Amino acid sequence: MAFPPLLDRLETFLLYSQDIPSQNLGFVDPKATTLDLSIAGKDYVIHQSPTILNRPGSTTGAVVWKITPLVADWLAASDNPLWNSGILSSSSGVLELGCGISGLVGLVLAPLVARYTLTDQSYVAKLVEKNIVENSPLGNSKQTKTSAQKRKSKPSAVYPKAELRFVPLDWELDEVTPSLTGSDKAKSFDVVIACDCIYNDTLIQPLVQTCADVCRLRASDKNSADKPAVCLVAQQLRDPEIFESWIKEFSRYFRTWRIPDNALTEGLRSNPGFVVHLGILRDAAETRN
Ligand SMILES: C[S@@+](CC[C@H](N)C(=O)[O-])C[C@H]1O[C@@H](n2cnc3c(N)ncnc32)[C@H](O)[C@@H]1O
Repeated sequence: MAFPPLLDRLETFLLYSQDIPSQNLGFVDPKATTLDLSIAGKDYVIHQSPTILNRPGSTTGAVVWKITPLVADWLAASDNPLWNSGILSSSSGVLELGCGISGLVGLVLAPLVARYTLTDQSYVAKLVEKNIVENSPLGNSKQTKTSAQKRKSKPSAVYPKAELRFVPLDWELDEVTPSLTGSDKAKSFDVVIACDCIYNDTLIQPLVQTCADVCRLRASDKNSADKPAVCLVAQQLRDPEIFESWIKEFSRYFRTWRIPDNALTEGLRSNPGFVVHLGILRDAAETRN
């Protein structure tokens, strides 16, 4: 067996040889139409749709999945390794794939970075845009409003379009172009995020291809070409075969590192059943066959 596939198998073995407590499928609450979430000292009221979730077809993004509030909370911390290492900074542009209806990671990170583009299939557009409007950072303070008051009140302020925006992007149908940044000046992204997007074998190849296409925008961006884009993939550990298929495909395009448990918050570690990997695109010559 060649060395790289052996490493992918070893990573799967290491992760799945420990006791992983059951997280069920991993929904926060699939029956609720609103969720009150508190992340990094701020309250968010997230609208979600059990009705859309139960429609025939793939509509898993109609409700919030457990890993997403955990990732948002981890990324918001000032001692997070992405901030400490300069991967994230106040001038960063971030693109999220498969954001679902909540837009939660974007809501939490957008005030800390220059630009955040949320993407998913178009069925999430209406609710994610409502969640962006209603969870604007202005007036979002624990002292000033209860979540019930927030639900009744009109949105007080909206993110300027360029800071936090939703753009439909289907991994199987759409082309990745610099226009995803929504800016005339920025032509690429510093960080690509995907939370809980690995659960279906048929989606692995188009998802990884889309991650690679977004990171590859960097090479033709003359303002930032010297700093590679970093792809962050956070997932719940479910089926080991799906995980192994993903890591094999991802490692073909990306040099891959797992964030060690001691650099994650307790809730996001492999023992509760979650894992976060970072990838940097390989050179064309290095891409595995
Ligand atoms: C399990 S949900 C996770 C949603 C959200 N990231 C969260 O953690 O709450 C998987 C997401 O992948 C999205 N997805 C599935 N197939 C897709 C495709 N072909 N193109 C774009 N997004 C897709 C779904 O719409 C859904 O939002």
